[in-house]
Amino acid sequence: MATARILGTGSYLPDHTVTNDDLSQIVDTSDEWIRTRTGICSRHIAKGETTADMAAEAARRALSFSGMQAEELDMILVATVSPNKAMPNTACQVQAKIGADKAVCFDLNAACSGFLFALSTAAAYIQAGVYQNILVIGAEALSTLVDWKDRGTCILFGDGAGAAVVTAEEDGVIDQLSGSDGKKGPVLNCDTGSTISMNGQEVFKFAVSKVPEIVNALLEKNQMSAEDVDFYILHQANKRIIDSVSRRLKQPEEKFPMNLDSCGNTSGASIPILLDELNRSGKLLRGQTLVLSGFGAGLTWGAILMKW
Ligand code: UT7
Repeated sequence: MATARILGTGSYLPDHTVTNDDLSQIVDTSDEWIRTRTGICSRHIAKGETTADMAAEAARRALSFSGMQAEELDMILVATVSPNKAMPNTACQVQAKIGADKAVCFDLNAACSGFLFALSTAAAYIQAGVYQNILVIGAEALSTLVDWKDRGTCILFGDGAGAAVVTAEEDGVIDQLSGSDGKKGPVLNCDTGSTISMNGQEVFKFAVSKVPEIVNALLEKNQMSAEDVDFYILHQANKRIIDSVSRRLKQPEEKFPMNLDSCGNTSGASIPILLDELNRSGKLLRGQTLVLSGFGAGLTWGAILMKW
């Protein structure tokens, strides 16, 4: 049976960066506090680029990497929690910008788990034989939702977009698990037209237990062990969360690549941006086993097991 294989990746990060020292000029914080508590040193912040602009540029780069033409796309899925318009959706804006005329286009909101849910959706469409070529994008302008007076959240987030072109092939996505708990919604919330509020410690506790739990369940379901996985590509929220997952899975930190030091938490864009960085630097080799996993507002969480 055909499944979804990633043919090519692309990403876009705004040129403008904001360092921890820059933030210490606007809220009561320090470079030392942010680095030691999160691992973040700086983040890219959009200056003029919209979520759709960033998504479209990541898409162009992914298409060019994969050698596919925009006209060949059957579907565009954009995971975002920070669209620049309520309508048309971001995916339709991307369609118009890149000329993917025959694609069906919609957005999906699962916050920081968004790219995982979108890739799982793409894989399900392909496995069902409905579509062949799908562009999956995670794109966020979190800077538009952040309360720049709240030091508990404004130090965490960054902007950017990552994209993957997936196509029907024999190897690729093997399996996925995902979940949601709407009762925990208030832990990480953003009312329409307002700014993000978060109980950081609650999110932290949830992440360090839920991510290893779902990864282990996914591996067990596929009769695999943690050792069989070459890379764990986790949502880039906090270095301490990723280190904790690495310890709980008893796997070396080299298997947990990170770019949050320079990108911060880009929510639904963090996994595809990291994937593109690894792909372009030649670290990902055909046939390797990857686990993608993350968590976010909702609460939501997910994991995907795949062959590169
Ligand atoms: O994609 C999902 C998005 N969310 C997350 O991933 C969040 C997960 N949670 C976290 O990453 C961490 O909880 C934070 C980085 C947000 C906070 O780290 P923490 O170690 O949990 O700190 P805390 O909230 O327990 O705060 C410790 C102290 C407090 O001061 P007191 O009460 O001990 O005097 C805070 O007021 O640190 C203070 N604090 C800060 N100090 C300097 C909180 N934020 C800052 C700050 N700079 N930016």
